[in-house]
Amino acid sequence: MTSPLTSTLEPIGESRPGAEWWRTAVIYQIYPRSFADANGDGIGDLSGITAHLDDLAALGVDAVWLSPFYRSPQKDAGYDVADYCDVDPLFGTLADFDDMLARAHAHGIRVIVDLVPNHSSDQHGWFQEALAAAPGSAARARYMFRDGQGTDGELPPNNWESVFGGPAWTRVPDGQWYLHLFDSTQPDFDWANPEVQEEFRRILRFWLDRGVDGFRVDVAHGLVKTDGLPDHLPAVDADSMGGADEDVPYWGQEGVHEIYRDWNRVLAEYDGDRALCAEAWLPTVDRTALWVRPDEMHQAFNFPYLTTGWDAAELREVISESLRAFPAVGAPATWVLSNHDVVRHASRLALTAENPQGHGIGPDSPGQPIPEVGLRRARAATTVMLALPGSAYLYQGEELGLPEVIDLPADTRQDPTWFRTDGERYGRDGCRVPIPWVGDAPAYGFSPSGASWLPQPAEWAELARSAQEDDPESTLWLYRTVLAYRRAHELGAGALEWLTGFGDEVIAFRNGDVTVVANLGTAPVTLPAGTLLVASEDFDGAHLPADTTVWLTAD
Ligand code: GLC
Ligand code: CA
Repeated sequence: MTSPLTSTLEPIGESRPGAEWWRTAVIYQIYPRSFADANGDGIGDLSGITAHLDDLAALGVDAVWLSPFYRSPQKDAGYDVADYCDVDPLFGTLADFDDMLARAHAHGIRVIVDLVPNHSSDQHGWFQEALAAAPGSAARARYMFRDGQGTDGELPPNNWESVFGGPAWTRVPDGQWYLHLFDSTQPDFDWANPEVQEEFRRILRFWLDRGVDGFRVDVAHGLVKTDGLPDHLPAVDADSMGGADEDVPYWGQEGVHEIYRDWNRVLAEYDGDRALCAEAWLPTVDRTALWVRPDEMHQAFNFPYLTTGWDAAELREVISESLRAFPAVGAPATWVLSNHDVVRHASRLALTAENPQGHGIGPDSPGQPIPEVGLRRARAATTVMLALPGSAYLYQGEELGLPEVIDLPADTRQDPTWFRTDGERYGRDGCRVPIPWVGDAPAYGFSPSGASWLPQPAEWAELARSAQEDDPESTLWLYRTVLAYRRAHELGAGALEWLTGFGDEVIAFRNGDVTVVANLGTAPVTLPAGTLLVASEDFDGAHLPADTTVWLTAD
């Protein structure tokens, strides 16, 4: 197999004439604290990102999305923001951000930042003011303060539970309670308050003026709560972020769409194609598509796709549904397999029904994934995903085939989920371990001092970028190859046509001049004639083995 690596030298991230860049872009998620640490404190930073932009350009991505780097006490790894318009000293300075942005743009890489509008940190100036102010004051009205129930208000205002476990209300010394759908250090804003609305317009403009290409919007389905805050307990099998087909008074309320229509108008004031991408966990693609109607957001993460297991029939269905529902409202379909909140797909795709992905996996979880099976399926799954029309998201480290780190010692875990459930849910630390760059360097090249905020497994020496760089069978090589062919064959802008006749456990489709065949079953599949462009595993060229995907072109 020859690699078309030279095509990565072309400028990347260019808009197609007449089509906005985000319709077809491959967007790489950087989780700053775990990407690259320049100053040796064991936590990744903006200078670390700048130093590795050439690696991202060589990988062949069009854009990056950065998880939060704003001023924050880091109670939820930066998703607890104390100042939306400044960089936390942990990550650097605003000047470091400007430098990173300018250099990314010089590489042809667009930059999306994370916006967290559902809640702030309890250390945010507004929340501190609210605590100091009296019940009923204007300062309290920016958040969701309520009196409690019971004779002395000693019971919370309703029965809502935090996504991270435990009650969604915390009581303050004067007896009132405030709502936090997440950690108690993350008070929810009251989005009915015009002051909150105006403040977020200001924040959007602050970053748009600096030149960002868009925003990934955190908990984009949660900002508006049903009037009267009625009691609600999620169904037993419901995902805590809203993945159940039921009406939840804090997820997906109608009023939330008005906020994004407003933001859409703010972005439209700027030149270039600035984009809004919704993190909205909804049970179906049809419900998700409501966030990307023409005057709202531009993209929404396809979580129904991410949560589909390694099953050909289910995958065919979610792909078909996605390619119907998103274009029906004028939006591109998006695809994603991993992010900083879910079990990495190199482990998740080998989990059993006994232990679906849920709330993280740890040493005591049932049905431990077999690493070889997980990696093989992950490579096959990514090779399917990157052939699909639309835009795709990658999560740092998946291009190295990193698995979930399952055996993190309990005393190193930091996810609030772990603490709020007394260790009953492992949470998300296992997908957030700092990534390996150089096999034989301290902290595998993550940090010059060898420090790492979560310990890296010994097996990661072999998965380091340096160990994969020149190995045609490596996962890194596979990602570079697939990304280069995706670009060369313009698959992001293409259309999908299903091919039949391969059997139930096979996924086969054509996108432009590329034929994709993926074998999710156990028996080998005879391939049609054609020239092999890329295969997720080495094989004889004629009989496609289990858990393998190929791209072919006509002879
Ligand atoms: C989103 C983020 C997650 C965070 C939560 C609260 O789901 O992706 O990491 O904990 O929102 O902000
Ligand atoms: Ca650092």
